[in-house]
Amino acid sequence: MRCPRSALLPAALLALLALSALWHHRSSGPSTAPASAAAFRWRPAPPTPRHPLQPPYPRPYRFLLNEPHKCRGRAPFLVLLVASQPSDAEGRAAIRRTWGSERAVPGVPVVRLFLTGVHPVFGAALGRLLAEESGRHRDVLQQDFLDTYHNLTLKTLMGLQWVSRHCRAARYVLKADTDVFLNVAFLVRRILRPRRPPRRRFALGYVYRGTGPLRDPRYKWFVPPQVYPRPTYPPYCAGPAYVLSGDVAVAAFGAAQRLPLLNMEDAFVGLCLQALGVAVTDGPPGAFNVVRLPYERCRFGRALSQHHHLSLGLVSVWAGGTSMGWGSHLWGGGHLYGAGCNSMAWGHLCGAGDTP
Ligand SMILES: *[C@@H]1O[C@H](CO)[C@@H](O)[C@H](O)[C@H]1NC(C)=O
Repeated sequence: MRCPRSALLPAALLALLALSALWHHRSSGPSTAPASAAAFRWRPAPPTPRHPLQPPYPRPYRFLLNEPHKCRGRAPFLVLLVASQPSDAEGRAAIRRTWGSERAVPGVPVVRLFLTGVHPVFGAALGRLLAEESGRHRDVLQQDFLDTYHNLTLKTLMGLQWVSRHCRAARYVLKADTDVFLNVAFLVRRILRPRRPPRRRFALGYVYRGTGPLRDPRYKWFVPPQVYPRPTYPPYCAGPAYVLSGDVAVAAFGAAQRLPLLNMEDAFVGLCLQALGVAVTDGPPGAFNVVRLPYERCRFGRALSQHHHLSLGLVSVWAGGTSMGWGSHLWGGGHLYGAGCNSMAWGHLCGAGDTP
């Protein structure tokens, strides 16, 4: 059956009218709502979901292990903050015996703290061991975030929080990874120099310039655009070892409360420094090497930081240095760089014939 053309038009109009009435009813909400501006008040967009690689922050992470009194009544020249995994008791033992010794530089007060979170699988068991270790050495900080690679930024921030709360008079703060080899005496005596007026607004390390986030998810250091949209980072000090003056450590912790966090710990500290208007300073050539160098006594005498040294290697390097006699020059004794290559200027590798 065919509808007469004359009947089609009014029917269509009627249907349209009904639809529009229905639409109006739905969009105006319940009829009891007061017709006021409240109905049109701006509602903020729901927070964009945090990308899983972005460490949750700020959060009231709790200290499970803390050392609030380590700086009481004294102002350390250097606070060593060493990122460490809860399971790596061996690495911590090696560092306590070698470069991380609080007596590494006679006459210069050094405070050492290991930064840990909670092991994602064996948190409870390792937590008990850590508590015991902390009771013995009083040098472990632990907060209740998951200790994973992508949460490294939280570790650094815990260390900076500790400095802000418990050690504001610290002259310098050194953040280091467990797998580096550091010559703390060299750093203190030759670079930071206790007798000089303290530097403020100061950050020192191996500086990366003009680098940007790696966008390929296959990389360990992958940073998705949702976490950091810009193509480049500001100049920043490479994570294995860098130094901040005490005021910068405190201010960077403050800045971190207002910035979106990045899973790249070192680049994030760079963003905090940029927000504070603090420039980064290049360490002397070779001082903050971030790649592992073949073990070479002369070079070790000068290099401040050698990345990727496992704990056994670290102890044997240390023992090698000590038994060769330069341990006492570089790490233990009253004077530095008595003879040989150790007395050479910056930037030169040991030449042939140099004897350490
Ligand atoms: C980082 O730690 C938080 C708090 O424990 C946790 O919810 C989150 O899953 C961790 N992130 C990663 C990538 O492991």
